Amino acid sequence: MITPLVVANWKMSIEAPEIREFVASWRATADAAVDCVIAPPLAYLGLLSQVPGIQLAGQDCSSEASGAFTGECSAASLLALGCQFGIVGHSERRQRHGETDDIIATKAQQLEAVGLTPIICLGESSQEREAGETFAVIERQVRAAVRGLHRAPVFAYEPIWAIGTGLPAEPSDAGTVQQAIANELKSIFGKKGDGRVLYGGSVKPENTAEFMSEQGIDGLLVGGASLTAESFMDICRNAGG
Ligand code: 13P
Repeated sequence: MITPLVVANWKMSIEAPEIREFVASWRATADAAVDCVIAPPLAYLGLLSQVPGIQLAGQDCSSEASGAFTGECSAASLLALGCQFGIVGHSERRQRHGETDDIIATKAQQLEAVGLTPIICLGESSQEREAGETFAVIERQVRAAVRGLHRAPVFAYEPIWAIGTGLPAEPSDAGTVQQAIANELKSIFGKKGDGRVLYGGSVKPENTAEFMSEQGIDGLLVGGASLTAESFMDICRNAGG
């Protein structure tokens, strides 16, 4: 049985006072049947370093190992700050920063090289969905992203039209796409690596159980509904069944 993975992506939506409030209210359940991960803004990773039951992720990393790259953050520095995971390929970075499949693959390789598990985001736009291209887009993104990796990463299927809109995918549709991703991972890596496939896009406590009951959905990547301890604890509890 795979342990569900629930990841909070706080983006740039939270500052130190709210993080302190989150930490003060957070209660890790001793029997937590779920791996809980938080990806805070980089500068605030230290505020979460001693929180019981929480693992850490970076929201992004450089495609370079080190050198003259002002403003960038190496995979090694994420490791040094206590991260176990690193998110790459979020659609906000693909769109706003022009990140290509190749750049994302290189970032994932940097994470793997230092021993972090990449969480690689992918998903189709609404136009691609309407054109019936969802599976072709996903397949292209998966194949490109795993190039050069030795172990299966975590993938997060986040249809772009479902992010921050309050309009999540139908759980059964997401499950079908995710099953395809899982099959692809299995055929490439066998049992090597993590291989969990998450769903992201307008997840909230009320729809968590429905997503998690779908075959192919091994966990969740949560934006807005992860910003308070109460809401994120509810999601983690509901994801644990
Ligand atoms: P929302 O949960 O706010 O839709 O954001 C999803 C997301 O982008 C997580 O990476």
